[in-house]
Amino acid sequence: MNATQQTGNEQATLWNGRAGCAWVEAQELLDQVFKPFEDLLVEAVSAGPGGRVLDVGCGTGTATLAVARLLGAKGLCIGIDISDPMIAAARSRAEREGTPANFICADAQRHTFEPASFDMIISRFGVMFFDDSVRALENLRRAATDDAEFRFIAWRGAAENPFMTTAERAAAPLLPNLPARRPDAPGQFAFADPRRVHTILEESGWAKIDIRPIDVVCTLPEKDLVRYLTRLGPVGLVLQEADDRTRAQVLETVRAAFDPYVHGAEVRFTAACWMVSAGA
Ligand SMILES: C[S@@+](CC[C@H](N)C(=O)[O-])C[C@H]1O[C@@H](n2cnc3c(N)ncnc32)[C@H](O)[C@@H]1O
Repeated sequence: MNATQQTGNEQATLWNGRAGCAWVEAQELLDQVFKPFEDLLVEAVSAGPGGRVLDVGCGTGTATLAVARLLGAKGLCIGIDISDPMIAAARSRAEREGTPANFICADAQRHTFEPASFDMIISRFGVMFFDDSVRALENLRRAATDDAEFRFIAWRGAAENPFMTTAERAAAPLLPNLPARRPDAPGQFAFADPRRVHTILEESGWAKIDIRPIDVVCTLPEKDLVRYLTRLGPVGLVLQEADDRTRAQVLETVRAAFDPYVHGAEVRFTAACWMVSAGA
């Protein structure tokens, strides 16, 4: 049984379908864009207790593999993700590189982890998609040792991340069926409200909670911008199924809307995020 069959939820369907495949296809590009966040997590692990590390919502395994390389034989990094195609990509990267990381394809909210088996739990943008965040983070708390650290990065709000919503604002008149963002619903901006994040962590048994804003400059080559726009985010997902005429019209409009972010051969934007840490 795969993760979609286990949970039957909307996010499982999305990440096992169009969104998951788009992330696999764009893996190298996304790794480049979000590299600063990988570095922040690797830094946190190197300052942390080491040992066994769990990467939640690990996707194609970028942070898992980076941490596994850091730990070497002194530890183990395990990635968990609900998406079959993303876990398959992560496993083949690990094999190709010869990096000893393990991957579990399952819903982190419901998976039965060995109790108290992780010294650190990390996530790069992988904890905002649970249908019941308290239950999910309680499950992770049970998987953590009593000295463990939980460290994750999540997006602040859409208003502070205009780059992330430029495409949908520009495309809205042309794509009337574009799904609206629902604040607090599972998705990219579900952890935008720090009070809500604090409450979720507290209710799920985490302590020593620290939520800090980080503003991180991210870049991608201008030549890859169209590829990014046509595959990722709500507009990218809709465009995957649009007819050629709509696609061409949307693309022209949306690409122009990104001009303020283009600086010669580079696209640059600031990602407004939370760096969250908690103790067991
Ligand atoms: C925005 S992607 C981030 C992927 C990866 N951490 C990275 O930074 O490249 C979010 C990831 O969370 C995963 N995810 C969503 N819901 C999940 C769940 N309930 N359990 C495990 N993974 C989940 C998705 O499949 C997806 O790979």
